[in-house]
Amino acid sequence: MVEENFIPKKYTNSIENGSFTWSSPSNIALVKYWGKKEHQIPENPSISFTLNHCKTTTKVGFSKKEDADNFSFDIFLDNEKKDDFKPKIETFFKRIEIYLPFLKAYHFKIETSNTFPHSSGIASSASGMSALALCLMSVEKELLQDVSEENFTKKASFLARLGSGSACRSLEGDLVVWGSHEAIEGSSDLFGVKYPYQVHPNFKNYQDTILLVDKGEKQVSSTIGHNLMHGHPFAQERFKQANKNLSDMISILKDGDLDKFIALVESEALTLHAMMMTSMPYFILMKPNTLKIINKIWTYREVSGSKVCFTLDAGANVHMLYPENEAENIQEFIKSELVTYCQKDEYINDKIGFGAKLL
Ligand code: DP6
Repeated sequence: MVEENFIPKKYTNSIENGSFTWSSPSNIALVKYWGKKEHQIPENPSISFTLNHCKTTTKVGFSKKEDADNFSFDIFLDNEKKDDFKPKIETFFKRIEIYLPFLKAYHFKIETSNTFPHSSGIASSASGMSALALCLMSVEKELLQDVSEENFTKKASFLARLGSGSACRSLEGDLVVWGSHEAIEGSSDLFGVKYPYQVHPNFKNYQDTILLVDKGEKQVSSTIGHNLMHGHPFAQERFKQANKNLSDMISILKDGDLDKFIALVESEALTLHAMMMTSMPYFILMKPNTLKIINKIWTYREVSGSKVCFTLDAGANVHMLYPENEAENIQEFIKSELVTYCQKDEYINDKIGFGAKLL
């Protein structure tokens, strides 16, 4: 599959106006995407758990314009007009116009809301860009005669990637791979695919509690961080390591080996932050409370034999991943020992989910 395959045939239908609403989840990477080439091509493959509760719902209303000279859209977050989101959407539209040639022919009203607070430090770009890509694909589906479900999701993921890399892992499936990997059939740099192999029941309903350590805006955007991998002294080794970790993950997922899972996932999280700390300019996104929580998790695991582990995004918040049968104990642990490190005592209980939905 190459990029040109996503340029549609001539549209055969015409439609004046309408609207579509999609809800799309966030995801948390186990093997991380950090570093990209031109056109949002990842330097290494990644794999993520799809979340269940942390979601963006987006409604896109569209009406035919007189002219087709410019992009025309308004964007609302929780019913409030958000002109400061416009440049990001404009950039997205420019990138995808060749694949969705109808974009200039309509005015769009984009209404979006998140199930998690906007200022929670949880990135809404994955859920937001995937929900928007799906709404736009629903429009295209009306304009084309027939689009198979498979091609619909594939192209939506392809478009979401052009909005934000990790967004292409938020469409379909509980475990999603993005980036071509020799051992994973069907994997591609262009879109995310459902993890195609056996997954041990140990991972069924795997839990993710997000401890909100810092709810502020990120000091360094992911895009800048990714770019700092160009010329980074450890970049090539890191990309090799991610490929190997993904290979190892295949047997971990099959065997349900939670000790190996813990070691791989925590090492990935710390490596991601090590890349940030060793780039030029360097930066640190972890906060003192991030480290306190990590240490508490390690002690708890040692004392109790629990299989809880942590992972991190490009921020200070800590994702605690644990098997469903530990949910009660972990909730106790959080309340008694960890909540004090969370901003305003806030955390979000989530778990593995299955992807986006048309509403
Ligand atoms: C640390 O997908 O937010 O969460 O492609 O520039 O939009 P852009 O970056 P983004 O990067 C997220 C990286 C990460 C790891 C991951 O999700 O794999």
